[in-house]
Amino acid sequence: MCGIIGIISNKEVTSRIVNSLRKLEYRGYDSAGIATLVRGNINEVKCEGRVDALEKDINKFNLKGEIGIGHVRWATHGKPSKINAHPHSSEEVSVVHNGIIENSTILKKFLEKKGYVFKSQTDTEVIAHLVTEYLKKNSLKETIIKVLKKLHGSFALGIIFKGQNDFIVGARRGSPLAVGYGPNENYLGSDSYALKSMTNKISYLDDGDFCIIGKDQVQFFDNKGVKKNNKVFNLSKEDLNYEKGDYKYFMEKEIEEQPSTINDCINEYIDKHSNKINIFNFPWKVNNFKSIVLVGCGTAFHSCLVAKYWLEQNTSLDISVDIASEFRYRKIRFKKDSLYIFVSQSGETADTYAALDLCKQNKMKTCAIVNVIESSIARDADMVLPIYCGQEIGVASTKAFLGQMLVLYILCTKISFDQKYINKKVYQSKIKNLLSLSNSTKKTLKLDQKLLDIGKVFANSKGSMFLGRGYSYPIALEGALKLKELAYVHAEGYPAGEMKHGPLALIEEGMPVVVLAPRDEHYKKTISNMQEVIARGAKVLLITNKNKDEVISENIWEKIEVDQLDQELIPFLITIPLQKLAFYSALEKGFDIDKPRNLAKSVTVE
Ligand code: M6R
Repeated sequence: MCGIIGIISNKEVTSRIVNSLRKLEYRGYDSAGIATLVRGNINEVKCEGRVDALEKDINKFNLKGEIGIGHVRWATHGKPSKINAHPHSSEEVSVVHNGIIENSTILKKFLEKKGYVFKSQTDTEVIAHLVTEYLKKNSLKETIIKVLKKLHGSFALGIIFKGQNDFIVGARRGSPLAVGYGPNENYLGSDSYALKSMTNKISYLDDGDFCIIGKDQVQFFDNKGVKKNNKVFNLSKEDLNYEKGDYKYFMEKEIEEQPSTINDCINEYIDKHSNKINIFNFPWKVNNFKSIVLVGCGTAFHSCLVAKYWLEQNTSLDISVDIASEFRYRKIRFKKDSLYIFVSQSGETADTYAALDLCKQNKMKTCAIVNVIESSIARDADMVLPIYCGQEIGVASTKAFLGQMLVLYILCTKISFDQKYINKKVYQSKIKNLLSLSNSTKKTLKLDQKLLDIGKVFANSKGSMFLGRGYSYPIALEGALKLKELAYVHAEGYPAGEMKHGPLALIEEGMPVVVLAPRDEHYKKTISNMQEVIARGAKVLLITNKNKDEVISENIWEKIEVDQLDQELIPFLITIPLQKLAFYSALEKGFDIDKPRNLAKSVTVE
């Protein structure tokens, strides 16, 4: 998704803007650009494609400057092209923008009547001309207040002004924006990661606010222009040097890291001496709520679906799960005795944030399960449970999914024990099982010899299906999502028992099908469903777990057996072969594994 960087300094800024844009590449983008002031005049360089191409052009035109803004764009209005790349400039100002201006067509008409000529098809260009128009009769502050009022939709903005070497303006509504502090220079960034190579001192703009950033000071204002003091956070430096190391792809590294990220998370939440769960910041009594609503998007949504099974099994609460983009527009009957849990790796997903915001407006109890603890969702929820898996760069979420499930499982176990739904013996045995999870994931990672060849078959198929029952059903959805996003192969996740109600018609000779059949209460039924697809010509990859009894079924194409573990923890293990399957399928196709086409790591638009 789009990314913003701005630097004001008394030193040259161009190369640092380019470096920071590289840090934002993980978000996914299709074009890039930069604008600086040179002797007070706005100079811009833009290109379609990668930041490397932008850097070449910057060198060609020898673009310099001590104040500048840069942007990576993920197209929303207008195709990816040099013209549509940001910044968008008028004679007077240059603007970078994340988000969508919903009333851009009306504003464009208004500005065209006044003689403004538009070069791009973007919604952003209206902002440059609107600021120019208001500046004619208003002070800087009045202009910003009036322009922000005129804009409908979501935005994070960075603006520089002709002849004004002393400040950059930042503003936000809906989309996040951070300010960083350095020695005799300050920064603007769409996320803290872009700024981390320059500073660990960060403030965040509150929704609807704007700021004026000088070299030596930063002023924050609310939407009426009233000055504010924003808190300065000292960010942890541990993620600063997150690199690929010996791996060719971040995704590969992130899959392999899972045993250690699981360990890190367990160390944060489990006191190994007392064999107890440490969630000390839980501000409510569990008996105060009767239901839990879990909300997320994509992979995070799938982790919520797994948690529904755990919570229903181990607590007396009513559990429901919602896709954030649906939740925010439904006529929800908010209940005081509900806990609303928002799951998000980035903590910046626009739909999930909007769903949280809706709950806050209705004074609900909210909990965020995030990876990025400085994110908007983490900052705005009543309580935060981090997943502690470190920076995730690959657009396809892997270690964060296991981290989300892990925190949800730990929370479920805590609630279950606090509710007295399980006794101390069961509670402690659950914790003991959790302590062996990391080791079992390590063993599962070694089971990949066959997956390289299996991946080739999936990559070259017309389509495939992923089937499971119970906990394995959301994992089937997740496996299918991974294959779709990485190998661009149509894949459907389905409850195994639902096949005969329609999708069985899709099965034809040679179609690859993943069947998730761990040795749980559903095992026999799932194996029957597997036989039904084999009988119709499917090539079945069976993922199950080790057992003294052999799987009784003929004509299974391939079989992978993960460790025998407590049933409830099997979702962690059967996910890993599916992550690898998608990885090898994308490798076979030669696709960009860390940045699949059309996708972004942090989805900050609706
Ligand atoms: O940052 P979030 O967890 O809120 O992101 C939600 C989804 O956009 C994300 O999980 C997406 O589905 C992944 N690309 C899947 O691999």
